[in-house]
Amino acid sequence: MVGLGFKTVKDINLKAKRVLLRADYNVPVHGGKVEGDFRLRQSIPTLEYILKQKPAALIIVSHLGRPAGKPDNALSLRTVGKELARLLDRDINFIADCVGEHTRKALADLKPGSIVLLENLRFHAGEENNDHNFAQALVEATAAEVFVQDGFGTAHRAHATYVAITKLLPSVGGLLLEKEVQTIEKVMSKPERPLTAVIGGAKISDKIAVLKRFIELADCMAVVGALANNFFVAKDIKVGKSLVDKGNIDLAEEIVDLADKEARKRPFKLLIPVDGVVSNSTDGRAPTRIVELNSATLADIEAYPKTPPASSHTVAADELILDIGPMSASEIVGTVEMSRTVVWSGTCGMAEVKGIAGAAAPFAHGSQLVAEAMIGESNSHKSKPFSLVGGGDTTAYIEDEGLADEFSHVSTGGSASLELMAGNKLPGIEALKKK
Ligand code: 3PG
Repeated sequence: MVGLGFKTVKDINLKAKRVLLRADYNVPVHGGKVEGDFRLRQSIPTLEYILKQKPAALIIVSHLGRPAGKPDNALSLRTVGKELARLLDRDINFIADCVGEHTRKALADLKPGSIVLLENLRFHAGEENNDHNFAQALVEATAAEVFVQDGFGTAHRAHATYVAITKLLPSVGGLLLEKEVQTIEKVMSKPERPLTAVIGGAKISDKIAVLKRFIELADCMAVVGALANNFFVAKDIKVGKSLVDKGNIDLAEEIVDLADKEARKRPFKLLIPVDGVVSNSTDGRAPTRIVELNSATLADIEAYPKTPPASSHTVAADELILDIGPMSASEIVGTVEMSRTVVWSGTCGMAEVKGIAGAAAPFAHGSQLVAEAMIGESNSHKSKPFSLVGGGDTTAYIEDEGLADEFSHVSTGGSASLELMAGNKLPGIEALKKK
């Protein structure tokens, strides 16, 4: 096992203590309903473990959205509290602030073993400013004696409940934080090989560090989704109106150069899609077609014995590439099936666009094929690779498809998991290590 470098809830005595726990309950809430409970469910083992230790009280804090330091009803955690109580099958008291006299009084006479959720930390500017006084106010209002950090999804932010608070209370990691750090660091230090990384996303600048890390580490890396468009532009392939990180095409060129150099040193393959699903609209109802990028094999076969028109294998000026095509998908699936470890971050297309054919259509087919290969559903080798998923959109897709439990590990972190994969230090984890 990879050494964590920090203590966890298993290393300290929580009996009869007031425990303050930072979770990341930044979940989609619409119309008074939690629409994705993955982060809540993943935090339950930590909550149950703490409750078994018979603490005086378990007081939970989190943020929701980005209210910019002011109260905002639409971003209240009240609804989240109700859903959490349902999942935990316990009563949870909700208190409409997290600091101040009202909160202190409300928390003064809790029954032993009570569970409380406080209102959104980001209603106070001190949270995002890593303000010592805000952390102090939180400790005073809650009379907490121990701090448990379990909010992995925000551990890349140096906020008050990640850094400042650890200077005020004995601080340890929760079971979710432990699992996230151990799993991601193990894959990034001692992966079972072959290791394949499938990386998508919107901006290449957001993924550059992780792309470079996988060129050093992986046996194969596939670029998919809008990220791949930058590689097409770098090769002078027309992409029409597709999403492109225009100022950063040089980063795609740099990745191709680095991958070429690596492939000269050892067996390494960079897979760039060879075909795409295109449409002139993202609404999921407009007609779609498969376009081969930079070649015309299919078009040649279809048009034989005539020469196909260039339009049949070129993305038109008013079209967008919205998913990888079948040839690219089968290349990636074949590679995934031969891998012992697969890391996936970033869907292969606009998988969230649900068309008339249901959730898996029309721009989620590539993602569906990758998901099925990773969980062994379509795997002709009958061996499931260790499958690690990180990144907000990929997790949302998997959750939506009801597949979250089929993967070896689906991270609750988007940027946090990417930063950890890239080998960066996360302020929320570093602060625990200093304890
Ligand atoms: C996330 O959803 O990625 C985390 O909760 C962090 O949220 P933030 O990007 O608003 O800091």
